Amino acid sequence: MKVLIVSPVSNHAIEKLREQHEVLVAFNAPQEEIKEKIEGCDVLVFRSGPDINAEVMSCAPTLSLLVRAGSGLDNLDLEYVQRNGILLRRIERPGARAVAELSFAYMLGLARQIRKADSLLRRGRWAKHELTGYLLSGKTLGIYGAGNIGTEVGRMGAAWGMEVIGCVREPSVDRARSFERNGIRLTNPEEVLSKSDFVSLHVPLQPSTRKLIDERALARMKPTAFLINLARGGVVDEQALLRALQEKRIAGAGVDVHEREGEGQISPLAELDNVILTPHIGAGTVDTQFAIGEEMISIITAHASGTLGDARVGSLMQ
Ligand code: MLT
Repeated sequence: MKVLIVSPVSNHAIEKLREQHEVLVAFNAPQEEIKEKIEGCDVLVFRSGPDINAEVMSCAPTLSLLVRAGSGLDNLDLEYVQRNGILLRRIERPGARAVAELSFAYMLGLARQIRKADSLLRRGRWAKHELTGYLLSGKTLGIYGAGNIGTEVGRMGAAWGMEVIGCVREPSVDRARSFERNGIRLTNPEEVLSKSDFVSLHVPLQPSTRKLIDERALARMKPTAFLINLARGGVVDEQALLRALQEKRIAGAGVDVHEREGEGQISPLAELDNVILTPHIGAGTVDTQFAIGEEMISIITAHASGTLGDARVGSLMQ
């Protein structure tokens, strides 16, 4: 098979794939280069970042499989994929723990003012008595979008002695019971926003979730609360968040995903002290990327041998 990989995945997996297939790489390449390289390819592997639109995919009429080495599908023209009968596999399971652990890194960092402490100390300021923080234990953690990743964050929160509440798009009695088993009380979005000390966002970016966290949603949060966005930049109205932070209507934020991402982009939140910023590194652990690479190889191997339909390698969307 001819495979094009347009986002960084584990080197180990690329080397293993090369033993069986022709593999081209074009990590973070401009659209024109991707359009050239995709010609004649059977498989395209991608993560968040490149825009996998109809123009790109139509350069490869041979394309029969897309492998999303992660979860989000917001950079993919799903309609084109469905119309052209291209198989799609997402490798979403390995990233959940990594994103959940980063949510905790943010909560701890914000609660203990680690960013401020670090930068003061580097300038010789011993601000020991100005840097009193908070425990996570006993605080309310709100999971906005308790899917695969959100549930993992909730489970970890319960283990840390937090009161965990969460909301989902389609609540039901059965779902509420299953969340309860993970220590998460299912409630409505309003309560998640208004009661939580930490609100962790885990909804996909879709037309219905674009700017979901706007001025009104932020106004529901407590002035002592922190917002953590590990979902997608487009889910939060960044200008509204900037104002809420500047006016101290919320206490702080941890933001891994941004309205504008990529080399040279500077977040409008960059000037603020009460914000931690990272460049979309939620799934970026060696362990996670190794597991994703292994699953990617199983998917492509199964596709090459015509058994992908039966292989237990991820969720199918056609
Ligand atoms: C994902 O959706 O899985 C994450 O954004 C990770 C990524 O693709 O970089």
